[in-house]
Amino acid sequence: MNHHAPLSPAAELHANVSVPFERAFAMPKSVYTSPEFLALEQSHVFAQDWLCAGRAESLPDPGDYLTMEIAGEPVVVLRDRDGAIRAMSNVCRHRMSTLLQGRGKVRAITCPYHAWTYNLDGSLRGAPAMTLNEGFCKEALGLPAIRCAVWQGWIMVTLNPEAPAPAEALAEVTDLIAPFDMTGYRETFRESFRWATNWKVLAENFMESYHLPMCHAGTIGGASKLEEMVCPTGGAGFNYHWILKNDSVPLALAHPSNTTLEGDDRRKTWLLAIYPSLLITLTPGYFWYLSLTPDGPGHVQVLFGGGMSEDWLADPAAEAHLASVRALLDDVNVEDKGCTEKVYRGLCSGLAQPGPLSHLERPNFEFAQYLARRIPA
Ligand code: FES
Ligand SMILES: [Fe+2]
Repeated sequence: MNHHAPLSPAAELHANVSVPFERAFAMPKSVYTSPEFLALEQSHVFAQDWLCAGRAESLPDPGDYLTMEIAGEPVVVLRDRDGAIRAMSNVCRHRMSTLLQGRGKVRAITCPYHAWTYNLDGSLRGAPAMTLNEGFCKEALGLPAIRCAVWQGWIMVTLNPEAPAPAEALAEVTDLIAPFDMTGYRETFRESFRWATNWKVLAENFMESYHLPMCHAGTIGGASKLEEMVCPTGGAGFNYHWILKNDSVPLALAHPSNTTLEGDDRRKTWLLAIYPSLLITLTPGYFWYLSLTPDGPGHVQVLFGGGMSEDWLADPAAEAHLASVRALLDDVNVEDKGCTEKVYRGLCSGLAQPGPLSHLERPNFEFAQYLARRIPA
């Protein structure tokens, strides 16, 4: 018997979460660096849970589409002729080329290889020179549908036919943010980028505001105090915390015309982590989000977008406000990129060891518990 066999990353993770939060440590290094653990995350997490494809208003018209990958599966999300958002396989039913790339607008989906053409509902419209194959049956060659739902304006997709609908699974989150009317917020910018860090390092960076005063000293750090951060217990599918902001970032506060939010709620910033990979910052004035896709253990593909609440958008100075929010968030992002890439370099080192968590990192511990629930030891 070998008493010295190293624990698998999953076993290390289970050991890591088997202590009370008051004794919690950061997750083991192997869960960030191991390709085997990433494969488990793809099959047990990304292929099982709801993932965010962005905001519904980013696909305003029939034929507007975006593409994404879920656990390596090419997916297209589009607005169909009836105005509904749908998701389907982005792989041709002929010799299996991928169909659409990036984002754009189409009247129909035409395969770039031999021009088989699909309607926006995924049915095969036509295929050249196929009538002599007796097994060719147009009706049987539609693109497989993928589950898709719009929750609070977010396009959510999953490969899992059994996953409870977002409205049900995230009912607690809906209640928490009810005073904001998130469906009325409008995305005004969006981009994607690839950073040299593990997807969980970036997710966890988002789950704590402990790093704000230092990492974001050049931007929002001064607007937030450690004493004004509250980390309540989250739910099975999410964690959250909130911070109170002072008026050094006026756009983070409720617009004077907003009569729904009262007292401290007018300066509260909510940080919502919808497992596994949708991270939303919601303030009374603006919002921004990250939706993460792992790209090997050491890289993450990031969809980054944001915008403003309806009342700020109606403000005569909306244009200027949008520009200043965007400029602020770009600077914040540069700071987060620096910190999360430094963490990844550090945790790949031999002498690195996970250290104890602050009480301001409760969401991080809950995230580790969620991963341990999904991934068997
Ligand atoms: S692979 Fe799509 S038409 Fe041939
Ligand atoms: Fe940050």
